[in-house]
Amino acid sequence: MSSEETQIKEVRGLKLYKKKHKVIKKLLKDTSTPEIHGDKVWFSSYLIMDYLLKNPPKLKSHILEIGSGWGILSIYCAKKYQADVVAVDADKNVFPFLDMHAQLNETKVRSKVSRYEKLKGSLLAEQDLILGGDICFWNELIAPLYKLIKKSLKNGVKTIIIADPGRSPFLKLAKKCKKKFNAELIEVKLKDPVKEEGYLLIIKN
Ligand SMILES: C[S@@+](CC[C@H](N)C(=O)[O-])C[C@H]1O[C@@H](n2cnc3c(N)ncnc32)[C@H](O)[C@@H]1O
Repeated sequence: MSSEETQIKEVRGLKLYKKKHKVIKKLLKDTSTPEIHGDKVWFSSYLIMDYLLKNPPKLKSHILEIGSGWGILSIYCAKKYQADVVAVDADKNVFPFLDMHAQLNETKVRSKVSRYEKLKGSLLAEQDLILGGDICFWNELIAPLYKLIKKSLKNGVKTIIIADPGRSPFLKLAKKCKKKFNAELIEVKLKDPVKEEGYLLIIKN
């Protein structure tokens, strides 16, 4: 195995560059570094992948990943479920990392720079599913995400799934959603690629 190959790991059937791979090093040198924590793959994305494995979306579903970061979840959905995915993030600096991983996994994911609160009803109305891993980590993000969930349900999105390690802003958002929508909060465990525990907030229309 070449040294380049050992710097690529495989998780859930996807190829991921390790941080020391020259592609990642070059990106960090040539482009601006992600600024709102989109600087790696966070484990919450794997919690959603595991949920989808047991509750698969229909093939070719329309999926919006919000706060996508490197977009590994989007790439997973595009590859495994042939989903038509749009990865959204407020930080444009995450997308070169997403594009590199999409290329490595021989798939394509569309991307869009937008804050949660700026997403238009017309885009939301096209989606079957909205996903987000570790996207509610500041109290200031609770209101924009709550509004986005409300707007998405109004526009006919069937299911919204947000995963989190259990940060306090996320738990506050979950409490609000359970009160107002058809929402449940499930505790889940992750075995691979790391042993972790977290939560899934699942909101159904
Ligand atoms: C902790 S990272 C998680 C990234 C990815 N979901 C994952 O699991 O690896 C949070 C992501 O949310 C994005 N983000 C933060 N605030 C946002 C906002 N108001 N609107 C859209 N994206 C936002 C950040 O740029 C970052 O990429």
